[in-house]
Amino acid sequence: MRFSFASASSKLPPPVLAELTADIAEWRTSCMSALELPFNGSDFADILSEAEHELRSLLQLPQSYKVLFLQGGASTQFAALPMNLAAEHQPCDYVLSGHWSRRAIEVASDWRDVRTIVSERDGFLPDPASWRRSPGAAYCHVTSTETAEGLQYHEFPETSGVPLIADMTADFLTRPLPIERFGLVYASAQKNLGAAGLTIVIVDENLLGKSKRKVPPPLDYAHQASANSKVNTPPTFAIVVALRMLHWLRQEGGLDAAAAKNLAKSKELYAVIDESDFYRCFASPRDRSTISICFHLPDPKLDQLFLDEAEQIGLMHLKGHPNVGGIRACLYNGVTADAASALANFMSDFKRRRG
Ligand SMILES: Cc1ncc(COP(=O)(O)O)c(C=O)c1O
Repeated sequence: MRFSFASASSKLPPPVLAELTADIAEWRTSCMSALELPFNGSDFADILSEAEHELRSLLQLPQSYKVLFLQGGASTQFAALPMNLAAEHQPCDYVLSGHWSRRAIEVASDWRDVRTIVSERDGFLPDPASWRRSPGAAYCHVTSTETAEGLQYHEFPETSGVPLIADMTADFLTRPLPIERFGLVYASAQKNLGAAGLTIVIVDENLLGKSKRKVPPPLDYAHQASANSKVNTPPTFAIVVALRMLHWLRQEGGLDAAAAKNLAKSKELYAVIDESDFYRCFASPRDRSTISICFHLPDPKLDQLFLDEAEQIGLMHLKGHPNVGGIRACLYNGVTADAASALANFMSDFKRRRG
């Protein structure tokens, strides 16, 4: 048995993989593979509207939010956000909480007046009371889970009138989402909603058309919203995968059930981490993530041994992010409770032998 804890992309649940295998052979009664469907045909139109319907009902999205099914990954959104949402000299506020928010800040700074309003300290997400918010900001950006450091917002701040924007790539659909708190959320799909290639943007329609400058058409939210995400070819097969994942999430009990399962998986690993000082988390207990569990061994020289021994018993892709080091286990929606238990048992055993 092999279990993957990769950060870059997730395991898919076996029933989803079985359905996709059939879809590749033939999409429903179309006499075509799901890989072959033209994006402007009626079969794909049905897939897209079914996927949007499933996503809306899972998230209980009000009609005033538009859902975009785009290419390019969250990294492309780092540039698309300031282009779409901020006027030329309007400040854009960013919370610097780790690797991915730093990347978002670097990219956005090439396009607009980006202000880092506060930074993470010693494994704590900065308290919203300490944010130095800019008057007249176009938006305020947070990264809901910092995948490299294992930090996660468990409650989202109130930004009183300024649209709150979140990169939810690591934890989208892993728990209920209080969407009314947000002007926009975005996420690459490969972690919790299927396969690489699809990026979801959910945006309050009142924010569309804010930038008075021209935005390249595939990155233009207003244009994509009015063209039903078909300004250019959408990632058709990744949307089929997302549709199958959405059906699966609904059948498994929706987002409350997903949150409970993800919490239980993470608790098992944190219990082993907390029972002695052999393993140490970067993130403080208050802000640590249920999805990305990042920890260090007492001596970095033990890292490779831990990884090698884990791999020998089928526990794969546990190396920490290069900027942070140590070990990282990602527990996305497709990672089973059995996988988390197998890793927890291995961690206990490793500690007993090496501690
Ligand atoms: C929080 C977060 N944001 C953004 C990204 C970048 O996503 P992509 O490579 O799909 O652009 C990642 C990738 O791991 C991530 O974890």
